[in-house]
Amino acid sequence: MNDAYAVRAEGLEKRYGEKRALDGFDLAVREGTVHGLLGPNGAGKTTAVRILSTLVRLDGGRATVAGLDVARQARQVRARIGLTGQYAALDEVLTGRQNLEMFGRLFHLGGRRARARAVELLERFDLTDAADKGVGGYSGGMRRRLDLAASMILAPAVLFLDEPTTGLDPRSRGDVWDAVRALVADGTTVLLTTQYLEEADKLASRITVIDQGRAIADDTPDGLKNLVGGDRIEVVVAERAEIPRVVKAVARVADGEPETNETELRVHAPVTDRVAALTDVARTLQDEGVGVEDIGLRRPSLDDVFLRLTGHRTEKEAAA
Ligand SMILES: Nc1ncnc2c1ncn2[C@@H]1O[C@H](COP(=O)(O)OP(=O)(O)OP(=O)(O)O)[C@@H](O)[C@H]1O
Ligand SMILES: [Mg+2]
Repeated sequence: MNDAYAVRAEGLEKRYGEKRALDGFDLAVREGTVHGLLGPNGAGKTTAVRILSTLVRLDGGRATVAGLDVARQARQVRARIGLTGQYAALDEVLTGRQNLEMFGRLFHLGGRRARARAVELLERFDLTDAADKGVGGYSGGMRRRLDLAASMILAPAVLFLDEPTTGLDPRSRGDVWDAVRALVADGTTVLLTTQYLEEADKLASRITVIDQGRAIADDTPDGLKNLVGGDRIEVVVAERAEIPRVVKAVARVADGEPETNETELRVHAPVTDRVAALTDVARTLQDEGVGVEDIGLRRPSLDDVFLRLTGHRTEKEAAA
């Protein structure tokens, strides 16, 4: 267990005119982990990343990255970090390999080391087959992976990924996730901002939820889910008259009072032994001949957590 922190921020402040983009923001990211920074549009995620990567000056508070002070040791910080989006201008005419070799030379690697690093990174990001094709013909997912590869030329200690999969199709998102996991396996610490709750859940060992420039929660994905209670069993019946019998069947296995939604014809209750509860209720209702439309187990999602913490849904969820 590694107790060292790759990123620490205390009371960060950033104002744009009247707007407090960051308003006392705290963050602690353990070395060698993926840490999720989760929040809706305008919460302050990009501002936090810009301050931590020394692109923007902070107005108050303090932060260290790889043990270096972002305000006083900006140049040293820059030598230890990578940032996606920084190289958004991939050369469309050049191939993937040529792009990476070009970045290698920009970082003064020398021709031979730049070539060797390009080969390694193409392999790592599963781009070897496309290495000698023009970037103009790459898919969105391939570009994003090449972008990640470019930010890894110098194997940074800390990599900032600002919404790395926004706009990608599910398969490309999965490819980017695999690439991020590979980086962390090699020892890089990743701070990943996202509006995708599922993404933070899948990748991060710890998640900071940010809203209006402040951290409003900091926990493991499971810890956040526990905020809104554990697993629940849910039964939807065909007819209202069946509800009392369902309530009775569910109450036998539940950890608490079953709740009923009369309009949705839905009965739900918290359970600890998920599978036993599901089997028991399904069997009872079948034996009693109750017409069941749907029966299942529901894990609370991070959307539920967000609603609980902020009182409002995330934009994506609201739009869905
Ligand atoms: N350069 C700027 N000038 C003025 N206001 C800014 C500037 N940058 C950010 N803001 C404001 O600060 C707040 C935080 O913005 P930020 O870009 O950090 O949010 P975000 O969490 O990255 O949002 P998104 O999910 O949309 O990328 C927003 O209200 C934004 O309008
Ligand atoms: Mg942003």
